[in-house]
Amino acid sequence: MYGWRHVFSLSFSIICSVVTEYDKFAEVYERHFAQEFKQRVLPVLQKILLNSLAPPAEILELCCGPGLLTQDLVERGYKLTGIDISGPMLRRARSNAPKATFLQEDVRRFQQPRVFDAAVCLFNSFAHLFSAEDLVAAFQRVNVALKRDAVFLFDLSTEYAYRTKWHGSFSMSEPDTVWILSPSYDSRERIATNHITLFEATNSSLWTRTDFDIYQCCHSEQEILAALTHTGFGAVQVFDAERDLDMVDEAGRSFFCAIRS
Ligand SMILES: C[S@@+](CC[C@H](N)C(=O)[O-])C[C@H]1O[C@@H](n2cnc3c(N)ncnc32)[C@H](O)[C@@H]1O
Repeated sequence: MYGWRHVFSLSFSIICSVVTEYDKFAEVYERHFAQEFKQRVLPVLQKILLNSLAPPAEILELCCGPGLLTQDLVERGYKLTGIDISGPMLRRARSNAPKATFLQEDVRRFQQPRVFDAAVCLFNSFAHLFSAEDLVAAFQRVNVALKRDAVFLFDLSTEYAYRTKWHGSFSMSEPDTVWILSPSYDSRERIATNHITLFEATNSSLWTRTDFDIYQCCHSEQEILAALTHTGFGAVQVFDAERDLDMVDEAGRSFFCAIRS
């Protein structure tokens, strides 16, 4: 008997080979979400990773999105390779971080000819994998892509964050774009949904409306730790973003820092 998470995982695999929901949202995502998150996550990255990783170390950035963090790290002297499944996200990334290398790949399947000094995957991106098997597949690929003792750092929202924050509605109105974001969380299925309504002005002053959902899966800490252990990562540290890392209003965002053994 397959649960919803398996159905999501399967349909996500099929959809990803054609188009991803982030394709429709790349520009708005960069302007309104990625920029702000990058500013807030950089001090965390500095503390957990960069203080002990001297440039020009090679960093693999999974689910790199529009490449804003990528460019910041390039400017600090690191060599960056970014992986993302969305073509429009990668087009923005190549323009934002021209000196980095980018590959359009699925994190569950990518292969890299060389090995990296560290890997990061930020802004809850692994929540776009919908089963423990998919997490294991991605972590296995990361393990193969890392040098021994390399750091693997990522963040994921916990059940607490989904239960307390994923409700209500948010909107933004600009001269040629209006968006409405309506998050919700199904605690039984452990699936979160961002329903997005996007209005965009076309050249002829007509507006187009697009409605779509971006789904996330709430992986339990136990499931994440088991996947890390199973794929050869050890010395795992788990930090709560607000309590341990001073990220304001981020209780329930966990940062996982593991060492490739
Ligand atoms: C929330 S965004 C985070 C982007 C970036 N890390 C940031 O901090 O702005 C999630 C990203 O994950 C990418 N993504 C989702 N599933 C993926 C997969 N299976 N393989 C590669 N990238 C994926 C999306 O295209 C999107 O760019």
